[in-house]
Amino acid sequence: MDLNETRTHPELLRHKDVNLISGTHDPDDVDQIQDLDLRDSDVFVVTYPKSGTIWLQQIMLLLQAKGDVTSISRTDGTSNADVMPWIEVSGCRERFAVAPPPRLRVTHLPYHLMPTALSRGRGKVIYVARNPKDVLVSYFHFHKLANMLETPKSFDEFFEKFMRGEVFPSSWFDHVKGWYSHKDHVNMLFITYEEMIQDLQAVVERISVFLDRPLTGGQLAAVVKHSTFSNMSKIPKASYVQVPDSLLSHRMGRFMRKGTIGDWKNHLSSTQNRWFDEVFQREMKDFPVSFVWDIGDTE
Ligand code: A3P
Repeated sequence: MDLNETRTHPELLRHKDVNLISGTHDPDDVDQIQDLDLRDSDVFVVTYPKSGTIWLQQIMLLLQAKGDVTSISRTDGTSNADVMPWIEVSGCRERFAVAPPPRLRVTHLPYHLMPTALSRGRGKVIYVARNPKDVLVSYFHFHKLANMLETPKSFDEFFEKFMRGEVFPSSWFDHVKGWYSHKDHVNMLFITYEEMIQDLQAVVERISVFLDRPLTGGQLAAVVKHSTFSNMSKIPKASYVQVPDSLLSHRMGRFMRKGTIGDWKNHLSSTQNRWFDEVFQREMKDFPVSFVWDIGDTE
């Protein structure tokens, strides 16, 4: 059966150098995000999709709860996105304005669409980057699952769209370089998905210092324990298995799919890999952060 026959065709809307998703984002609403008044306690976790957004949601909520997993995991049909939503999704901006502190939000927006107050030192940003070959593969699988995104006809077709930046929110290269170039203008912590795989405790410690939310040794251990792939997968709120079928076709896969480094090797052909490497070297030649491409390189 052709899945496209049974699903609506969500479209990308080009707006200010970004591809938004019709039905999920409203360009006029997104434009108003820039004028949001920020507090010092506001925190934005910024990612290109499939770079560990929901992992950071779980870590941030556990940090907030000092590691007390029971207080954030009640099975009530909601997900972590209900308390830490995407600021660019229609309706979230209005709720942000009236929400009590600390306002924790995630976003995939580029820097130029974010609140200008960030550049005046208000609020904090945690940027999470992931090696883009694994992002591409994870995003391909997510497009099959997510009803707000068009189902790819094939991996090859999706590969080309990703390389051309014809996905939400546009090119991976522009997103990472764009945010990184502002890291000295905003209060930003830059971390990578691969560092988290390698040493989750060290990254959680860095986050807690950056946010000035000290943890005892026991609390730190609890945050780490309840945000590992296997433990998070068992928490419905954190793993998004409770999200309604109208948004995620659960029979097509899981949000928490593999959670590793190097799955791209099972997907990219040698021609695609060569093409990717050429583009990567051209686009990222001046980028000072190096990526880990294989789980074996972390040992
Ligand atoms: P995979 O599809 O490669 O498994 P996002 O939240 O930005 O959409 O990213 C989703 C990706 O992060 C998925 O990657 C998912 O499995 C991975 N992920 C989520 N929680 C994780 C965890 N606790 N440990 C490792 N990876 C995790």
